[in-house]
Amino acid sequence: LFFSGYPHMTLLQLLTQRAAAAFAKAGAPDAAPLVQAASKAEFGDYQINGVMGAAKALKTNPRELATRVLADLELDGIASKLEIAGPGFINVTLSDEFLASRVLQQQDDVRLGAGTPHAETVVIDISSPNLAKEMHVGHLRSTIIGDALARVFEFIGHNVIRQNHVGDWGTQFGMLTAYLFEQESTQPAELALHDLEEFYRAAKARFDADAAFADTARDYVVRLQAGDTRVLALWERFREISLAHCHAVYAQLGVKLTPDDVMGESAYNDDLPKVVADLKAKGLLVESQGAQVVFLEEFRNKEGEPAAYIVQKQDGGYLYSTTDLACARYRDHTLHADRVLYVVDARQGLHFQQVFAVSRKAGFVRPELVLEHVAFGTMMGKDNKPFKTRTGGTVKLVELLDEAEVRAFDLVTSKNPDMPEATRREIAKAVGIGAVKYADLAKHRTSDYVFDWDSMLSFEGNTAPYLQYAYTRVASIFRQAGAVDEHAPLVLVEPAEHALALALAQLPDLLQQVAAETAPHFLCAYLYGLAQKFSRFYDACPVLKADDAATRASRLRLCAATANTLKTGLSLLGIAVLEEM
Ligand code: ARG
Repeated sequence: LFFSGYPHMTLLQLLTQRAAAAFAKAGAPDAAPLVQAASKAEFGDYQINGVMGAAKALKTNPRELATRVLADLELDGIASKLEIAGPGFINVTLSDEFLASRVLQQQDDVRLGAGTPHAETVVIDISSPNLAKEMHVGHLRSTIIGDALARVFEFIGHNVIRQNHVGDWGTQFGMLTAYLFEQESTQPAELALHDLEEFYRAAKARFDADAAFADTARDYVVRLQAGDTRVLALWERFREISLAHCHAVYAQLGVKLTPDDVMGESAYNDDLPKVVADLKAKGLLVESQGAQVVFLEEFRNKEGEPAAYIVQKQDGGYLYSTTDLACARYRDHTLHADRVLYVVDARQGLHFQQVFAVSRKAGFVRPELVLEHVAFGTMMGKDNKPFKTRTGGTVKLVELLDEAEVRAFDLVTSKNPDMPEATRREIAKAVGIGAVKYADLAKHRTSDYVFDWDSMLSFEGNTAPYLQYAYTRVASIFRQAGAVDEHAPLVLVEPAEHALALALAQLPDLLQQVAAETAPHFLCAYLYGLAQKFSRFYDACPVLKADDAATRASRLRLCAATANTLKTGLSLLGIAVLEEM
């Protein structure tokens, strides 16, 4: 996409470039001006910071330098007003004509002007539940945040590779396959594994109570690892059924994850001896209490001892930590990633720091590969403790999502009792699932958050229902409008029109920020702000009853751009919109 004269530049990039040129002309070539969206409308649209720092470095008066920078600021056809504020800030107000043309050009582009000129291959470790058990709320955040990030990265033009690093290997599969073998004599595997939680509990109980069974289970682990076809077949059955449970959850959540995205721990199994051999060849391995470890001087415990990163146990077995080394290497060498995002619980922070450190030391990844742990906090109950069932058990994801739909259905029914039931169900699905996702995405991902049905399902405030409803309000204008001129000129006159257009034109910068900081909550805050600016515009500026046909047509274009931006933005969060609700 080419904005006339400003190819591939977002508003911030354009203003930053012009500001840097002005600083250079004004005698401060080393200054790095920081351009930010203005915090208040009375400061204009943008604020250029950096004069004070530059003046200090040059030992000159900041107001004077600001005056020179302002005189050199080349913003003809872009800004309508420039002024110096306070000790040396420069406030910029964009011209209505420029803003209108940005909005319209953005609407003509499938990426809404947000395409990145430098596409990268971004690998996203997403969802990654353990298959031994049912998916529980702990995997909700990885799934939702990972999905939103994947969509944003894709939308702005990156090559995204989703990797569902499921836990499908390890000693517990000995117990589970041994128990499945027993169960299969009386019932089909699908039935036995209908409830994985229950199955796991029963297998564990049997393991603890019966020494002979425990021996069999241990024998199964050995056979599994040796590739015994019978045990492998049982393991495959188990894995397949457990994965089907996951994919049912993904479908209900509307998350873009397919069986092709699954690249579980077992996939790296054959590579583990090589990982250990390579570490040894590099002289990084030390034997410690029979185990093979990499000592990391940069990570020290309270006693001041270097951390021991174990890659092989005393009995020869490999660990989660070994797999993650093979996995990092695969993501670099085979997937050719430029950037890898691990969307995983914050409590695994130290693990990932060490995975990254060992991978780099061993040369398993290129130095320029960006490895990031996209950490998230814990989902809490209303009692401020990790979210649990009333009896203290883990909450199954399926049950949580079903409850969301039921609650939303009751809500919709109370608001629209006369709506056909099928319509109410459809709305309930979008609202219920949307509410759960949005409540999660709207908080900064690193903070813990309280899961609260009432606030997430509210039609007021920063919630999915509020935004979904805001969208239907805009959409409804078009049902009443009759024929619309889709090419009518957009003319911004009222302050509320300017403010709305500015917000629309800021989407590309916003998406860049979401990608750079891997933080979807910025998109939520943006959409909430956009909906509010639309409300203000709609209150202040009659659309269908505008004074003249040109104004009406112009305002309808603003409405269309708002509808499109809200819908696109929500879809990037994985949230569906409805035309009516
Ligand atoms: N299966 C792990 C868990 O449930 C998460 C895996 C995250 N990804 C990774 N590459 N280690 O805790």
